[in-house]
Amino acid sequence: MTDVGTDSDRLTRAEHNEPLLEVIDLKTHFQVEGGIVKAVDGVSFTLDRGKTLGIVGESGSGKTVLSRSIMRLITAPNVITHGEVRYDGRDLVTKSSREMKAYWGVEMAMVFQDPMTSLNPVVKVGRQMTEHIRHHLGVSKSEARATAIELLKSVRIPEPEVRIDNYPHEMSGGMRQRVCIAIALACGPKMLFADEPTTALDVTVQHQILNLLRQQQKDRFMTMIMVTHDLGVVAGRTDEIAVMYAGKVVEKAPTNQLFADMRHPYTQALLWSIPKVSQPKHTRLNAIAGRPPDLISPPSGCSFSPRCPYAQEKCHIEEPPLTAGAAPGHQFACWYPVGSPENEAAWERNLAAGVPQTLAAAGKLTATEELLETINLADDTSDHEGAGA
Ligand SMILES: Nc1ncnc2c1ncn2[C@@H]1O[C@H](COP(=O)(O)OP(=O)(O)OP(=O)(O)O)[C@@H](O)[C@H]1O
Ligand code: SF4
Ligand SMILES: [Mg+2]
Repeated sequence: MTDVGTDSDRLTRAEHNEPLLEVIDLKTHFQVEGGIVKAVDGVSFTLDRGKTLGIVGESGSGKTVLSRSIMRLITAPNVITHGEVRYDGRDLVTKSSREMKAYWGVEMAMVFQDPMTSLNPVVKVGRQMTEHIRHHLGVSKSEARATAIELLKSVRIPEPEVRIDNYPHEMSGGMRQRVCIAIALACGPKMLFADEPTTALDVTVQHQILNLLRQQQKDRFMTMIMVTHDLGVVAGRTDEIAVMYAGKVVEKAPTNQLFADMRHPYTQALLWSIPKVSQPKHTRLNAIAGRPPDLISPPSGCSFSPRCPYAQEKCHIEEPPLTAGAAPGHQFACWYPVGSPENEAAWERNLAAGVPQTLAAAGKLTATEELLETINLADDTSDHEGAGA
């Protein structure tokens, strides 16, 4: 088995509060017939031990490719990777798949979007769990079964002694996702990735599962990355948020700071697109005007410029760098950041010129405060109705 670091070396790193994860200028590109898809294009961040980072962005912004790149789960033959992923001081990018096996499950684990694709439909959940436990921990059958029952209990599956002998189809969607979480937690990973873990579930169950994840993260002092397209999901459940657009981080801040003072127009647009609980079912989502960019040939300058209500000439020419704002840990990449006098002037100019996306955003701008009031920023780990969901 490969070396994941000596215990004393790791203890020293932990004692010195060195971050568990450092991602440095990570690029994951795919060579395709039409050119190079820049799915992740120069992402850098650090994540401290025991903290949760939310990665938020629309479909195709690179969230899954980023998470899988960190875990080294991208196996596509057309992939080109640059940069570094330092996990507890060791660069994972240079490791072979064989060497990565020492990390998967034990150091880092992932909960996927759809539990049905992670679980084998023709094998009882207990066997799926015990095989995983035995493979990684080398314990006896009966010990693995006892561990599996304990894990099912910890993710609040009622009657775990009975449920362990269910097939996945005998469980509800929420329960299946709880089983997947239990499997991911089985070997006590230090880092957990949850990639849209609740998209396939209905709203009430979504909240329970998200809160369960947050609770487990706290109880086990895990470091977590929670991936979602919904800014509302990460409010109250993360310590920091990174907003991704076209393969890049365009804004990053401690969660409360982001909601108190969001500076990037795309983050603001994501806020406007949060589905409201009061909305009748099947109401069209307040989607962001325009389409995400083509990642093979993104627009010149700022890649959000064709959709941004504040875009000016400069935005179409020069790409804004990710720069630090006044508040600690707050970074954003925008020439006319929200809340600045330059932004107000840009807005007025675009409004006067009748720029379509500016006119479309006019109503939403006034609703921003009202929207923020509906978002629960308090740390929420309640899972009262967990049993049976
Ligand atoms: N193997 C591949 N070859 C070519 N392009 C790819 C490959 N895998 C992913 N991509 C492209 O990379 C981009 C980012 O994809 P990714 O799955 O990370 O988006 P996402 O933010 O997770 O979106 P969603 O919210 O829909 O899950 C997309 O344009 C996708 O088509
Ligand atoms: S740089 Fe310009 S186009 Fe890009 S987000 Fe800022 S204002 Fe909008
Ligand atoms: Mg995805």
